[in-house]
Amino acid sequence: MATITVTVNGKPHTNDVEPRTLLVHYLREQLNLTGTHIGCDTSQCGACVVHLNGQSVKSCTVLAIQCHGAEVTTIEGLAPQGQMHALQEGFWEKHGLQCGFCTPGMIMAAADLLERNPNPTDDEIRHGLEGNLCRCTGYENIVRAVRYAAEKMAVPAGD
Ligand code: FES
Ligand code: FES
Repeated sequence: MATITVTVNGKPHTNDVEPRTLLVHYLREQLNLTGTHIGCDTSQCGACVVHLNGQSVKSCTVLAIQCHGAEVTTIEGLAPQGQMHALQEGFWEKHGLQCGFCTPGMIMAAADLLERNPNPTDDEIRHGLEGNLCRCTGYENIVRAVRYAAEKMAVPAGD
């Protein structure tokens, strides 16, 4: 066992973890943040994407112990309590989800994409989300949802 302190969604957590514990299991099982999903055991689906020190990572590919001293943001911490992030609104407005299983990972990956490229083309959105698989939507509405969020985030507050 090792003791780690990780700031998750702005709040520090100190826990004992096994050296082999994956970040996704730490978040889901020790912190009860079950919005981060596990959709595969081959690091392919992207349902587990969170932000680690501001960058999107597949949390099934990171050991919890590697996150000691780091800042992690999960889908639960993307928007202030009781509010929706523009991406969450976009997925709602543009029907970017059906079963919703892939959605937390899609949104966290898209948030990182928009951080780096606030005005992406459709091709850039598709490229930015190519590590995230969706079995339901055919992706078209996911691209629309991300475009909606990019446009909304470009409007200065108060307009
Ligand atoms: S659970 Fe599928 S990539 Fe992490
Ligand atoms: S909405 Fe079902 S997997 Fe994407």
